Amino acid sequence: MSVFLGIDIGTSGTKTLAIDGKGKILASNLQDYPCYAPKPLWSEQSPEDWWQATVKSVQNVVKKAKLKPCDVKAIGLSGQMHGSVFLDKNDKVIRKAILWNDQRTVKECEEITSAAGGRNELIKLVSNPALTGFTAPKILWLRNNEPRNFEKVKKILLPKDEIRRRLTGEYATEVSDASGMLLLDVAARNWSKELLGKLKLDVDYFGKVYESEDVTGNLTAEVAKLLGLTTDCVVVGGAGDCAAGAIGNGVVGEGILSTSIGTSGVMFVYSDEIKTDPLGRIHTFCHAVRGKWHLMGVTLAAGGSLQWFRNAVCQELFATARKRKIDAYDLLTYEAEQTPAGSEGLFFLPYLSGERTPHADPFARGCFVGLTLAHNRGHLVRSVMEGVTFSLRDSLDIFEGLGIPVKQIRASGGGSKSAFWRQIQADVFGQKVVTINSEEGPAFGVALLAAVGAGEYKNIQEACKATIKIVKETKPDQKTKKIYDQAMPIYRDLYAALKENFKKISTK
Ligand code: XUL
Repeated sequence: MSVFLGIDIGTSGTKTLAIDGKGKILASNLQDYPCYAPKPLWSEQSPEDWWQATVKSVQNVVKKAKLKPCDVKAIGLSGQMHGSVFLDKNDKVIRKAILWNDQRTVKECEEITSAAGGRNELIKLVSNPALTGFTAPKILWLRNNEPRNFEKVKKILLPKDEIRRRLTGEYATEVSDASGMLLLDVAARNWSKELLGKLKLDVDYFGKVYESEDVTGNLTAEVAKLLGLTTDCVVVGGAGDCAAGAIGNGVVGEGILSTSIGTSGVMFVYSDEIKTDPLGRIHTFCHAVRGKWHLMGVTLAAGGSLQWFRNAVCQELFATARKRKIDAYDLLTYEAEQTPAGSEGLFFLPYLSGERTPHADPFARGCFVGLTLAHNRGHLVRSVMEGVTFSLRDSLDIFEGLGIPVKQIRASGGGSKSAFWRQIQADVFGQKVVTINSEEGPAFGVALLAAVGAGEYKNIQEACKATIKIVKETKPDQKTKKIYDQAMPIYRDLYAALKENFKKISTK
């Protein structure tokens, strides 16, 4: 039997999935770990936690699916993007990894922009502007703020690539995740020696860059034994979780866009050619499809906004739901469903962690605007879901403005499991939203890349065609679409009106 594993090093946990050659799910397992916020707007994790979770989840999957060591032919790795793992000369992790949703690097973004010769020059070099979440500003932050730690740095790896190092002993990455470091010449699909030179960073800090389906190494003997696998098992490049999720959704051709509502929200569209937004509002990255690209808009707190609401405002409901073994989100969604579209004039701006698309503003803050005595908890929940979806529509409108065709929208991620939130998406986007047969997201995408790397399929398009089918569609309701079309400009004006005060608030 030929089995392929997909391992996704997420922000809330690591998920391992086993599929057979036809894409059938044989077993999956999730192991979670904490996220640390030692200061407001900082976000860190321990790479050792990722490794322990990887080992446990792979062992559990091997056991659950009753796999023989030689069954597993290849592994694909996916992970939260942009995180920085700093290793010393003995491959020891120097400090906790700084994550994608950390906002400490405002100054370093300015430093990078000026070293590149301005924002336009930077976009020319690496296709993207400097954003606080990206990896390069984190490296400069370490150099500026923890010089003694920086002196010890020998290698800098992304989260999933640190797991690759522990699995295979190789320092390697692949084009999709490397694009989010702000150090890759995205057009050439390799490190930008020019920008690295301007930032005085040695190219040797970084791993070798591969295409996503290429083999980057084999399991070491020690790891193979630990996981119950063999050293014949190869590890392919894999992909950052956004590209991996898009592959798992079959976004491998022109006109297909995926929306994903997880902790963050991602609007992801395939492109045959490299296209950049001259205003730098959305990201242009290499896709995990050989020689192709994608554009992407990111809402930092998407499902994360609803999770915050559940945890911060609905503790009692959450506790009761747990006791009764009901999902608290189902109870909240039920309350939201009892309220009208547009939440009777209540708006939610989802900028709880600052925002990336379209504002690229680490100072932006979350807020409810328009509260009256008539509003209840259902309205609050509905406006959170609507506000997050308005934010995703901001990305959709930018894609359309850049002339990128969007013929089909595929909804995925935890948020899209809710029929109610899918309907809000169809109504806000004004387009049909479809879902596919697999809900496994990034782990499924990289398991397919592993199957391609092991020769089971000719390419990733063929693998997606063989395994991915559309199973449901949600059409927009024209009346509700009208309500949202009228609400959208107000939603946009609110950020513009509050922007200056967000900056003042953030220094308090
Ligand atoms: C993408 C991004 C997030 C993380 C979270 O640019 O920052 O989607 O990858 O997993």
